[in-house]
Amino acid sequence: MNRKDGWDPRQYLKFASERTRPCHDLAGHVSLSDVRRVIDLGCGPGNSTEVLASRWPRAEVAGLDNSAGMIETARQSHPDRRWILQGVADWAATADEQFDLVFSNAALQWVGDHDVLFPRLLERVVPGGALAVQMPCGFNTPGQRLMHELATSPPWVHKFPSEGVPQWHVRDINFYYDLLAPRTVALDFWKTDYLHILPNAEAIVEWYGGTALRPFLDALESAADKEQFTSEYLELIRPYYPPHPDGRVLLPFPRMFLIAYR
Ligand SMILES: C[S@@+](CC[C@H](N)C(=O)[O-])C[C@H]1O[C@@H](n2cnc3c(N)ncnc32)[C@H](O)[C@@H]1O
Repeated sequence: MNRKDGWDPRQYLKFASERTRPCHDLAGHVSLSDVRRVIDLGCGPGNSTEVLASRWPRAEVAGLDNSAGMIETARQSHPDRRWILQGVADWAATADEQFDLVFSNAALQWVGDHDVLFPRLLERVVPGGALAVQMPCGFNTPGQRLMHELATSPPWVHKFPSEGVPQWHVRDINFYYDLLAPRTVALDFWKTDYLHILPNAEAIVEWYGGTALRPFLDALESAADKEQFTSEYLELIRPYYPPHPDGRVLLPFPRMFLIAYR
């Protein structure tokens, strides 16, 4: 298990099929006739990169991530592919190469300053190419909201850094329209509410444990606190995800999709 940089490939891949589906949906909507070079930003363990390699089998596909554990897992499954260990913002500011498709599934919510980042990412796209991005946008779903409420309630508030834990940086979809429309020839935006069918409320905690809950647990020092926070969070979310007669629960998970053609 890799916890040095907070990302745990095994925890993340517990829901590999649910997490990869939006990636298929995004890649499936990219309408480009000639795709030779693709980069997958925040490629994680390489599951999204694999989708891109299957969709454009003749393209050269690279993956970039700032987690050594994720890049190592990706490299083990495809040693022949180009894997870059670097932060997205740093890459966007300094890289001097361009791609037919700059792609990112479920990663840019962790990167700040989208007003600077997105124009820079577009500069990494060849004229005639595209930037394609998917980010979660369900800030007000109970699963998302209640972890923040719990962390800011006594006694937990004193156990977290005063500046809080890293948050998603996703803005309203109108912000991305205003930012990208003047710089592109066409835009394709949509939102989807995925309804993940999970075995029980405990699985919802597992789900968030691979992503949004991770910074909260990383910020807590003792194993006892991590366990206590997780169990209080579970009891808070339980009433919002009542079991169906077969015991399973539905987890609504809204996501935003942006394809910007240069
Ligand atoms: C939720 S995973 C997404 C993985 C994969 N793209 C997918 O579709 O399943 C988010 C990934 O973004 C990476 N990440 C987060 N912040 C990053 C940054 N600033 N630069 C590069 N990668 C970052 C994390 O290490 C993690 O692997």
